[in-house]
Amino acid sequence: MFSPIAPLTHSITVYLDDQPISASKGESVAACLLRAGVPFNRLTPVSGAPRLPYCMIGQCFDCLVEIDGIGNQQACLTIVRDRMRVRRQNGAAIALEHSAQ
Ligand code: FES
Repeated sequence: MFSPIAPLTHSITVYLDDQPISASKGESVAACLLRAGVPFNRLTPVSGAPRLPYCMIGQCFDCLVEIDGIGNQQACLTIVRDRMRVRRQNGAAIALEHSAQ
């Protein structure tokens, strides 16, 4: 479904829920997760419905993830960094839990 417009370098490693994923410098976290075939990046607070990035331009907020311990980060607007720690969000509870720290 997704194909890169430039050759991928896979030169860095991002961890999703502690599992390593190869990533390329300059790509967004959302692009990295979609390319890796992740089935969802968050569950909605009310119904628990799974969500994946949709707009890829910062408008829909379906791409929210926890990045390096900070919840509600827009994956489509965040560029990957080597050894970045990404966690899928499970509703608002996790986001609220981390925002209180
Ligand atoms: S994919 Fe829509 S805001 Fe990130």
